[in-house]
Amino acid sequence: MAAALTVLLIGCLLQTALCGQFKTIIPKTIKVLSGSCVTIPCSFDVETRFDSNIDGTCRAMWKYDEETFMFDSSDPQSSAIQGELKGDLTRKDCSTTLNNMRPEHSKEYFLRVQCNNFRHNFLAQKLHISVTDVPPTPTLTPSTLKVEEGTSVSLKCSAPAPCLSHPPALTWSFSLGHIQESLQENQDRTKVQTSVLTFTASRLHHGKEISCTAIYNKQDGSSQSNSTSLTADISWSAPFMTFMPQTIEVLSGSCVTIPCSFDVEDKYKSKVDETCEAVWKYDQWTVVFNSRTPQTTGHLIGNLKNKDCTTTLNNMRPENSKKYFFRIECNNNLKQDFKTTQVDISVTGRFYSPSSYTSVNNSL
Ligand SMILES: *[C@@H]1O[C@H](CO)[C@@H](O)[C@H](O)[C@H]1NC(C)=O
Repeated sequence: MAAALTVLLIGCLLQTALCGQFKTIIPKTIKVLSGSCVTIPCSFDVETRFDSNIDGTCRAMWKYDEETFMFDSSDPQSSAIQGELKGDLTRKDCSTTLNNMRPEHSKEYFLRVQCNNFRHNFLAQKLHISVTDVPPTPTLTPSTLKVEEGTSVSLKCSAPAPCLSHPPALTWSFSLGHIQESLQENQDRTKVQTSVLTFTASRLHHGKEISCTAIYNKQDGSSQSNSTSLTADISWSAPFMTFMPQTIEVLSGSCVTIPCSFDVEDKYKSKVDETCEAVWKYDQWTVVFNSRTPQTTGHLIGNLKNKDCTTTLNNMRPENSKKYFFRIECNNNLKQDFKTTQVDISVTGRFYSPSSYTSVNNSL
């Protein structure tokens, strides 16, 4: 018998942590959007000797002082605040939805339970309902995004959902990715709508603003929204790349200057030093130009340390019409062909109208 009682007591303690005394478990505060509803998660307990008095005759009332009640579950339609008792009082569940809240309803409420053989104001616990005109800002977690390209990113957006019949709709500015929505419960049993956006970070996202908007549809049919955002900071390691024109036309006998810049993979960045030389080729075997050897074929204009590979090639002939690519050769392990970008130099036949190519330095 004693053992059974202990089990009962422990079960009771685990369930509510408030056995056998007058108490409500309600949130301390809930923010509600004006014109919207609020669902109050609520449970209560009474001294054990009154347990049998909690029966089908009970009604729940929400009050902010001893005299007035704002809601009465026995007459929800003529209450100052209309609503609906959601819980079953005989199970000590006093969860209540109050509809169409107005700023003047911002008060500290307490529960009253009134039955044929029992009545009690649960004054020790109060719920502050704050009715606001502006919807709350959704929360982004994490609040900043700084990752490397290729990382799988999960951004969580959450917004309070005080009105269970009208949870906020969460939308993302950014549609590349998988979205999973759910309604979650806070520790005080208020609800929060969450949306998790999962995507793989790419350099294309860098600098983009990612925002989450919470749209609150209100009971009067109107809606209000608020949003929050972050700017994606995505880093990536540059591959070996050159940047130069796709094609250059040049008159036979003239020189040509190839505007050129390049980038190397991150781990080679420090290898681009004064020992490096610029080489131009059009196939694997033929070196057209090498800045290491004194040049009549051309000269390197750019400074390789500044990733500038701008080069002038002299005395171009029609047979030099080829696709050229840049190569870097340093006195360390950096020796690399940049084959992905090539410049197509087409040398056209001699066309003598000196004034038409004064800008071209004829090296003949
Ligand atoms: C969004 O929320 C913030 C903080 O809660 C508030 O100051 C702001 O006015 C809200 N914006 C809109 C558009 O309601």
